[in-house]
Amino acid sequence: MKHSMDLGMFRQGNHSPSYFTLARSMGSGSEDLSDFCIPCNPYFPTPDMFAELSAKLETILKYYPTDAGAITGQLASLLQMPPQTIAMGNGSTELITWIDHLMIQESMATPVPTFGRWTDQSLETGKRVDMFQLPEAGGFALDIDAYVDFIRERNSRVAVVCNPNNPDGNYIPKWEVLRLVDSLADRDLVVVDESFIDFVDAEPRPSIAQEAMLRHNVLVLKSLGKNFGLHGIRFGYVVGNPALVKKIGSRLPKWNLNSLAETVIFMLRDHLAEYRESLRLLARDRYEMLTELRRIPGMQVFPSQGNFVLVKLPAEVEGPRLRDYLLSRHGVLIRECGNKLGITSQFVRLVVRPREDTERLLNGIRSYLTSSFSESLEGATPLDLAGRFAEPSGVKTGTHSVLDDPLGDRVVPLLGSETMSGPRMTRTGTR
Ligand SMILES: Cc1ncc(COP(=O)(O)O)c(C=O)c1O
Repeated sequence: MKHSMDLGMFRQGNHSPSYFTLARSMGSGSEDLSDFCIPCNPYFPTPDMFAELSAKLETILKYYPTDAGAITGQLASLLQMPPQTIAMGNGSTELITWIDHLMIQESMATPVPTFGRWTDQSLETGKRVDMFQLPEAGGFALDIDAYVDFIRERNSRVAVVCNPNNPDGNYIPKWEVLRLVDSLADRDLVVVDESFIDFVDAEPRPSIAQEAMLRHNVLVLKSLGKNFGLHGIRFGYVVGNPALVKKIGSRLPKWNLNSLAETVIFMLRDHLAEYRESLRLLARDRYEMLTELRRIPGMQVFPSQGNFVLVKLPAEVEGPRLRDYLLSRHGVLIRECGNKLGITSQFVRLVVRPREDTERLLNGIRSYLTSSFSESLEGATPLDLAGRFAEPSGVKTGTHSVLDDPLGDRVVPLLGSETMSGPRMTRTGTR
């Protein structure tokens, strides 16, 4: 099946085009699209909950919401947290923006690769962003001690860490996160972004939200779009000690949360069992998806505790080409990572979806690899082959800043750059 659309939209900006942009470009073909790009819980809300929301839509859209305090109070009671320790925003991205405006004066540190707003927000407001390269050779895992040393060396005033991290899916055990925040008690602020924490099954209570409330400089940030499967609503929150949370909460615009967010938050109490079940199904699908992806020769599949999986493609396969092929031939959308800092276009991020959808993705990847391998092997000698599947392209590490660059390279490394190389790729299949 062929889908026609303007693939140029993937070459603009640091984020993928929205579903709506893509759907407009595809026209009637968009109903058939299978989205492996945006990490969204496919099992929640349940069809019954969507029916309930649809039935109330007219009222939801016609009336003003209650003020954010009442909605936040309901969320706090669900999470069993004191209401003064939580502030809700119109998506966690709004809260990242406020954290930058109100709490980052001069510099911040973040591991890379990571969620783009953590690197870009403070760069855009003229602050120094110290980027700590996660080593591909170590599966992009964060070494807590090395990160603390890096922050001290650069004297970064604020530190951020995502747990699990996007796009690699690495999870840092809770005791290690507490060790990190306690080692950084002398910094202005430490933010632990737990937007994907509900998908973790490595330990029963992975969040440090309760511990953050007791510390003077720690905020936990959480998106609600990913775990509740509702990115379009735009809701998220921060947790911390009341004084810290008030700094943000008191500056948020009145009615920053809409009536759809209010309705969902007040519905949740009656649907907690379905929510828990959705997480169980997702963990099952993640396990199956990892297993199936690992069966494809030449792919390096990273373990994940998020609702997505990072994959390194064989050295000769380019991420953008695979993405364009899957979208135009199979109606499958994936996230190619070339526009993220600290990682290359040899990596793709694949969202965990139900079995039937994953089968379609796997078929698409297999058919692409089969056709491109057989084409590129025509006329190749054994010597050519030895070189062809060797080293992947390197990525750089260091402190970055924004430059007005006529060539369009928005970010360049400034300090301490060294090329990072990953493990050698070997190739096991030729068809
Ligand atoms: C780690 C992380 N934090 C925050 C966000 C932003 O989420 P929201 O939709 O709540 O703005 C994202 C989005 O992908 C993310 O990956």
